Amino acid sequence: MVSERATRTTPFAAMDVLERANRIDDVVHLEVGEPDFETPAAVTEAAVAALRAGETGYTSSKGKPELRQAISEYYDRRYGVDVSADRVVVTSGSSPALLLAFSTLVDPGDEVVLTDPYYACYPNFVRQCDGRIETVDLSADDGFRPDPDAFARTVDAETEALLLNAPANPTGAVYDDDTLADLVSLADAADATVVSDEVYHGLTYDGEDHTALEYTDDAFVVDGFSKRFAMTGWRLGWVVVPPGYVDHVNRIAQNTLICAPNFVQSGGIAALESGEDFLDDVRETYRERRDFLVSEVEEWGLSLDYTPGGAYYLLVDVSDLPGDAFDAADFFLEEAGVAATPGPDFGSNAEDCLRLSYANSAEQLAEASERIQEALADVELHPAD
Ligand SMILES: Cc1ncc(COP(=O)(O)O)c(C=O)c1O
Repeated sequence: MVSERATRTTPFAAMDVLERANRIDDVVHLEVGEPDFETPAAVTEAAVAALRAGETGYTSSKGKPELRQAISEYYDRRYGVDVSADRVVVTSGSSPALLLAFSTLVDPGDEVVLTDPYYACYPNFVRQCDGRIETVDLSADDGFRPDPDAFARTVDAETEALLLNAPANPTGAVYDDDTLADLVSLADAADATVVSDEVYHGLTYDGEDHTALEYTDDAFVVDGFSKRFAMTGWRLGWVVVPPGYVDHVNRIAQNTLICAPNFVQSGGIAALESGEDFLDDVRETYRERRDFLVSEVEEWGLSLDYTPGGAYYLLVDVSDLPGDAFDAADFFLEEAGVAATPGPDFGSNAEDCLRLSYANSAEQLAEASERIQEALADVELHPAD
């Protein structure tokens, strides 16, 4: 019999839309959060050299010591924080890192606080551990930035973990260091542990990224190479673990993951050592695409009440279109040939929205915009209120 846990696990709509879109000719893909850049050549060369050198066996389940050291140095260089390599556990992407964090923290019935909208997979990580989900509402009127007062009303003695994500998926929202400091300190006051998903760091257009580790050691910080270094298919990430948890996280990693692929880890070392210039260009390109798409949404007659400050997503309100967000996604795909992800996957506050990813070329974005505008020209937009 299929377990109740498996039954409760919801599909990942972006991947479902991708599968559908792939069966249709000539679709512009704005549904998946996958960089269209190539992995930096130095990374590929390092991994190929490692393969040729026979680095094909298991590594330590925490990861190669050189990679863990490179990650430790990265925290020092980028954020000025001292993170011992002993606290770094390397994983096959940041997704298993999230699973390790929740598996280590959450007992059945424990409360995990998320924002709504949230990254679609977060509730499913909590469900795998039979945790209980509480959400804090975010709204476009505040740029989808969290309000620490709203968190203070939700995070309490019942809360085991507080999940933070900035730049955020699906909104692209970022928040300042004071907000992060406030959120960390209210988690601390409630004796809850912060899990901070920092996978979009490096893709912040205005201002600086701040890690939760600047404010506390008692946080699981999840990060990876997928987004920043255009390495989604390499499957490489990590989690920085609070000092008292390393052994427990490692036990779960040893049993369930064994280790991240050996030669891929060598690619990761090269990325951290040589990737910063690449990132400056990438960030600038994404910023231009964001500015383009933000102004185009208005041309379409749809509403975007905020400007995302990072990652590569826009959450566009489609409540003026006939039907619900699933109908809107169908309309975009079938009438305009543009794939977009329906918002309900990202929480009730994204229910009336489509998520558009601008991890696609300027030409493809221009094509998408032209198609959408043309398709919408025949549609009567009707305000919901
Ligand atoms: C917020 C967020 N966290 C984690 C992930 C997982 O990334 P990966 O497992 O490729 O590192 C994604 C992927 O889209 C994401 O958007």
